[in-house]
Amino acid sequence: MRGTSYSPSPLKIGESVVGRAVRDRKPYPVSDIAKSHYKFPELAHACQLRSMLSVPIIARERVLGGITVYSRKPHRYNSGEIDLLTAIAGHAAIAIENANLYRDSLNALFTLAKTIEAKDTYTQGHSERVTRVAAAIADGLKLPPEQVNLIRQICPLHDLGKIGISERVLRKKGKLTPQEWVQIRRHPLIGADILGPIRLFGEGICVVRNHHERVDGKGYPDGLAGNDIPLLARIACIADAFDAMTSSRPYRKGMPLSEVLDEIRRCSGAQFDRDISELFIDMVNKGGLDPNLIIVE
Ligand SMILES: [Fe+2]
Repeated sequence: MRGTSYSPSPLKIGESVVGRAVRDRKPYPVSDIAKSHYKFPELAHACQLRSMLSVPIIARERVLGGITVYSRKPHRYNSGEIDLLTAIAGHAAIAIENANLYRDSLNALFTLAKTIEAKDTYTQGHSERVTRVAAAIADGLKLPPEQVNLIRQICPLHDLGKIGISERVLRKKGKLTPQEWVQIRRHPLIGADILGPIRLFGEGICVVRNHHERVDGKGYPDGLAGNDIPLLARIACIADAFDAMTSSRPYRKGMPLSEVLDEIRRCSGAQFDRDISELFIDMVNKGGLDPNLIIVE
């Protein structure tokens, strides 16, 4: 409500005016609040509210909530005004439905990503930790909130393409043969092919496709070098390598933090972006990374 810092207590269906609009699934105009079922008379008095109109927000037969407008003048709402607010509620319903669909789609994809981790027994929790490390780096680089958000959405899916790699290869404990490496190296392209048509990730798909590129151009799948590798992918690359090195595997213990940081420093400018490496090492040394992301059993 404009001009107040009022936050209303939750209403039950049928309660107050908007609760009745929701219960009855129809607009509820009130020309005199003092003579209505309005539940907050002290607010009406403090804000000099005299009349109001509540309409339900309905999507696909389901009531999602209600919208209310108020007036400081006694007012009898006409059908044009009621139709206008009902139309606005219709747009709100579509927006809420889209947001819910978007959330459901993301959850479905994240579930899919977790099933891949289950397939690859060595990487339990890997995607989630990579996401948190990558988001911390993006924050440290002071990227705009939309970019940090994008990295949070796409990073859990960076290895989605492993769905197309045989379990035998993913679970193999010994050295991989050259042919098996060829298989493994296909996962960024498989993931990008699966997620590419989903427009909501936009440029974020680069994290899936390019997280194994190296700044010296010797990475895969595109062999991009330096700043030709999209920034979000360069961030994900360090986060991914960091988690791989700190995590224990059935056949080896995770490396101590100091050795991991030495390795990142050593590979800076070859495998990793120099500036991002420096920022990351500095961040870890200053205690800016959640300790749970550093020691992984
Ligand atoms: Fe990967």
